[in-house]
Amino acid sequence: MSGSNGSLYAVADLHVSYAENRRFVDGLVPTSDGDWLIVAGDVGEIFGDVERTLRLLRRRWAKVIWAPGNHELWTHPNDPVQLRGAERYAALVRMCRDNGVLTPEDDFAVWDGVGGPVTVAPLCQLYDYSWLAPGTTSKEESLRYAHSTGVVCTDEVLLHPDPYPDRESWSAARVAESERRLAALAPGVRTVLVSHWPLVRQPTDVLWYPEFAQWCGTSRTADWHTRFGAEVAVYGHLHIPRTTHYDGVRFEEVSLGYPREWSARATPPRLPKLVLP
Ligand SMILES: [Fe+2]
Ligand SMILES: [Fe+2]
Repeated sequence: MSGSNGSLYAVADLHVSYAENRRFVDGLVPTSDGDWLIVAGDVGEIFGDVERTLRLLRRRWAKVIWAPGNHELWTHPNDPVQLRGAERYAALVRMCRDNGVLTPEDDFAVWDGVGGPVTVAPLCQLYDYSWLAPGTTSKEESLRYAHSTGVVCTDEVLLHPDPYPDRESWSAARVAESERRLAALAPGVRTVLVSHWPLVRQPTDVLWYPEFAQWCGTSRTADWHTRFGAEVAVYGHLHIPRTTHYDGVRFEEVSLGYPREWSARATPPRLPKLVLP
């Protein structure tokens, strides 16, 4: 599969449990037969919804590359699929493979269209509460502060870490696995690093509730964009779509977000976002 006559696009946080968002997804189309689409997590929380949406996107795009968000990893009480934690992730990966969608567990695809060759590396690194709430000095204090303000991520209730004892242990295992895969790339390889959670903390500086940052990433990935040759780092999760640069590397937040967020903006979402060229 070659992307030589197309472009590389990305989108995240489609949150298809909302009818407005499902209509938005129905209207998404590629610009040419060779386009690839990165889907950086939070398609939805119901397993069947995630499958239906990825299947629809795969029918339209030459290649679809998915990385999980926290919502796919939830075990929602209304979901007939009650798998938890690592087992749920494994089932999502199997579902993607059945539908021809690439995951962090597959060989990395190489974009060889305009702007390439670039290795597109989807990652799943979760978070480990290392991005403490301002003014706090430990994970316990940071979490306590969030509970006092009421800004607590629903992951605390619905994202189970099984078989790991806690989410930070699962994150540590995921970081080690992703690091192993990236370190195995040939020296000098250029990459597009794709993760639901931003690899660096700076994007969270503009959060309305800064204490939410503890559910947004891990300090363990702080140098990955320079260490692993990133041409672009793609992420979502914050629902603050924008382009920024850190250490000369372009970061693209490509989220749609909730209807109340995107419908309130002056201009409609321009998604999927062009990543390359
Ligand atoms: Fe989201
Ligand atoms: Fe998210």
